[in-house]
Parts: sequence; structure tokens; C-alpha cells
Amino acid sequence: MEVYSEKQQIITVIEAFKAKKQTLGLVPTMGALHHGHLALVKKALDANDKVVVSIFVNPTQFDNKEDLLKYPRTLECDLELLKTLGKQNILVYAPTVDDIYEGKTLSEHFDFDGLEHEMEGKFRTGHFDGVGTVVKRLFDIIKPDNAYFGEKDFQQLQIIKKMVEKHSMPLNIIGCPIHREPSGLAMSSRNTRLNSEHKKAVPFIYKTLKTAKMRFGTKSADNVSQWVGKQFENHDLLTLEYFIIAEISTLKTVKRKIKNNKYRAFIAVYADDVRLIDNIALN
Ligand code: PAF
Repeated sequence: MEVYSEKQQIITVIEAFKAKKQTLGLVPTMGALHHGHLALVKKALDANDKVVVSIFVNPTQFDNKEDLLKYPRTLECDLELLKTLGKQNILVYAPTVDDIYEGKTLSEHFDFDGLEHEMEGKFRTGHFDGVGTVVKRLFDIIKPDNAYFGEKDFQQLQIIKKMVEKHSMPLNIIGCPIHREPSGLAMSSRNTRLNSEHKKAVPFIYKTLKTAKMRFGTKSADNVSQWVGKQFENHDLLTLEYFIIAEISTLKTVKRKIKNNKYRAFIAVYADDVRLIDNIALN
């Protein structure tokens, strides 16, 4: 498996693939890979001749310095895990901050038609400008035909689709279902930071989402949101940051259910200082 840390090297290799009309998939990651990431890479390998996995902890999408410092960096293990998928068709791009930002570690500003102001946008200032900046740069460098993103970060997925549509970028964005631990906990690189006590507590998040989905069949969005709020009110180990039921194309909070609209429930919870997000399709 080839690993590149400089964009010029990987650009040269990719140009050779393109000349042979090979299709290219991209799986952008921040490393600390888990089976959810592997599922994205497998899906990409099934549909493309070559797949680039980028591993880059992007500083501009962190509004919290502590969180950036504590983000797990496990390149050696990541490469071992990727090797389990077979080596020939995977290339890894693991750049330095300078290779991506060329001395100016700043975000561009994006207009995602308001998607960026909902949910995560309310709690993580500048986060989606950072995501948009790095993903756009990765698309410029790698020039993939297809790029793969997990639905765990559903708002991110919708925002990237919006960016591609608004800037007429020539690629397909493919969303992939959330991968869960046997306990139901959504797989996330941040899970490795949970202590044993919190590890036992966090399956409560998905359990609550599943019950919320059931209740949404007969109750209003408001009623379900209040019910979820109550479940966390007296929880010893988990603190609810938000629970929102939103329509999936605008991500606006639902006031009144409309027939044929598609809804999802979104949640953000702190387990000590580890922030976890999850979501579930409601219909
Ligand atoms: O979802 C992630 O891991 C990151 O937000 C992404 C898309 C790799 C951009 O840094």
C-alpha cells in the first residue's frame, strides 16, 4: 500500500491513473480508523479502480483547541487496518498541515444555504467552514470520481452535497449508513477516549434514539423532544447538548409533520469531556 505525505507525489500518481481512464474513489478521514471507515473504503473499492484514503486531522474544523490536541492520532494502526483490505488498490494520502494549507491555516467562508447554521453549526463556530475548506482542497488534489462519507455526520454529508452542487464540482457524493458497536453506540474515532464508566453509559444514546423513533410514530416532534430531554435530565454521566427532529433536506427543526417529508432525529451528548453525536432516520 502506497503512502504519500506530499500532494505533488500523489497528484503525479493520480494523473497516471486518469490517463488510463481508471476511476478513483476518495474516502476522507481524520484517522483513528475503525470498522465504520473500513466499510466506506470497501464500498469505494467495489465501485472504483483505485481508492485514496486521506488521513488528516484538520485543524480549521476544531473550534476547541483541547479537542484538537486530544484527537487520536494513530497512523501506524490505521495503515495496519487498511492493509487488512488488500493492498493493491488503496493509496493513502496522509499530509502535513503545511502540505494542505501552505503556511496559511485558515478556513474559506462558505454559504451552504443555511444548512451550516443548524445543529452542529450552533455549537461549533466555524466548524463547517473548516470542513468545506479541507474537503474542497482534497477534491482539488485527488480529483475523485466518487467520494464517500458516513451518515453519522449527516449534517456534514448534506453540506458537502450542497457544496458540490453549488460549485458544480464534477464528482458524486455517496453517503453510507452508520456503523454501530454491538451495544448500539455509533462508531466514532472519539469513542477511544471514553473511560470504562462512560463506555458502559453511552449505549443509552442509541437506545433513546430508537425509542424516540417509535414515539414519533404517534406523537409530535415537540413531544418527543421534551421526552428525550427528560431522559437525560437526571443522568449521572451523560449531558445532553441538543436533541432535534429535522427535515432532512433543510435540516430545519420540525414544527408540524408534513406527509411525505423525510425526518431524522439528531443528538449531541457529552460523556465527560467527550462529545458524541448520533442520528436516526424516523420515516
Ligand atoms: O468526517 C471527518 O472525519 C472529517 O470531518 C472530514 C470529512 C475528513 C474532513 O476533515
